[in-house]
Amino acid sequence: PLRIAVLASGRGSNLQAIMDAIAAGTLDAQMVGVFSDRRRAPVLERAERAGVPAVSVQRKRFPDRQAYETELFSRIDTTRPDLIVCAGYMRLLGAAAVDAHAGRIINIHPSLLPAHKGLHTHQQALDARASEHGASVHYVTAELDGGPVIAHACLPVLPGDDAERLAARVLQREHPLLVATLRLFAARRIELRDEAIHIDGLRLEAPMKL
Ligand code: GAR
Repeated sequence: PLRIAVLASGRGSNLQAIMDAIAAGTLDAQMVGVFSDRRRAPVLERAERAGVPAVSVQRKRFPDRQAYETELFSRIDTTRPDLIVCAGYMRLLGAAAVDAHAGRIINIHPSLLPAHKGLHTHQQALDARASEHGASVHYVTAELDGGPVIAHACLPVLPGDDAERLAARVLQREHPLLVATLRLFAARRIELRDEAIHIDGLRLEAPMKL
C-alpha cells in the first residue's frame, strides 16, 4: 500500500476523508503519520483516534523556517512516506524541503488554480464574479500554490452565494477529489517527470476533472 504522511494545520476534514477511505477499503494506502505546525490542532486528535502517529512541530520553537523545516521533515522522513499530502497546511514550504521530496508532495487548495492563489479563495472568486469555482490538487513547488495541477473539482457559483456557503460546497467536493487523486498514486499511475505530470506514461495536458 501507498505510505501517506499528512501535513496539516487545523480541522482535518481532508485527513478524515483519506482515513475513512482507507478504513473502507476503497483506497489502498496506509496513513503513516500526521504532522502539524500547531500543538493542539484538531487534525492531531483525529489521527490519534484512528491510531495514527500524530506529531506537532511548532514553528515558534525554531529561530527560522529552515531550522523548523529541517526538524519537521526529518520527523516526516522517519515514517518513510511514498507521498506527503498537505491538507490544510497553512504555511509555505521552503525550497530545501520541496527539492528533497521532489514529486512526492501534493497539496489541496480551495480554488481552481491558477486562479485565486493564497488565502480567502472563496471571497476572491466572488470578488472576481467567477461563474465557476472549486478545488485543485497539485504538486507542491516552492512557489505559492504554483506547482503543476493534477486535478480540479469544478462547481458553479450560485446566486446568493457568500464565502461561507461557497466554502462549504467546495469542501464537500474536496474530499472525493483528494481521495480519487490518491487512488492514482496508490495504483502507481501518476508521476511527475521533467516538471510535467504523466498518467499511465502519457503527459497530462490539462488538469483532470474529478
Ligand atoms: C481546505 O479547504 C483546504 O483546501 C484548505 O484548508 C482547508 C482545510 O480543511 N487549504 C488551504 O487553504 C491551503 N492554502 P481541513 O483541515 O478540514 O482539511
